[in-house]
Amino acid sequence: MTHSMLLNHKIKYTPILLGLLIFTLMQCQSTSELKTGKEIYQAYCVNCHGVDGKLAAIGAIDLSRSGLSKEGRVEIIKNGRVTMMGFQDVLTSEQIDSVASYTFKLKEE
Ligand code: HEC
Repeated sequence: MTHSMLLNHKIKYTPILLGLLIFTLMQCQSTSELKTGKEIYQAYCVNCHGVDGKLAAIGAIDLSRSGLSKEGRVEIIKNGRVTMMGFQDVLTSEQIDSVASYTFKLKEE
């Protein structure tokens, strides 16, 4: 094998490797970036509360009628209550904050 053949080989595979690298990086981003309150709500809360907050499965409170303050909601989302588990080990405090804010939107819809 001559030197130029080796070089050819390297050039041929570089785009493929770059493509794989970019693909991998994009995958990482999509899983770690559940950013908006709505996305978090839809990933973790709809099973019991429903898309509109009104499902009230297993005794979950209708969120569209909740009279709790933002702080009260953050507390419950963090620590849980009765059959609702706490989310402090699952979500960051920023995520808990944004999902708590999102629950107020359920009232308007
Ligand atoms: C396993 C089912 C379940 C899941 C998942 C769940 N909840 Fe709940 N949630 C409940 C139940 C049950 C209650 C009522 C607890 C009680 O009776 O005190 C409740 C109560 C609440 C309350 C209090 C409402 C009020 O007015 O007292 C808030 C706020 C709330 N949930 C938000 C959320 C959010 C936000 C998520 C997602 C991060 C979530 N819940 C996920 C079952 C669930």
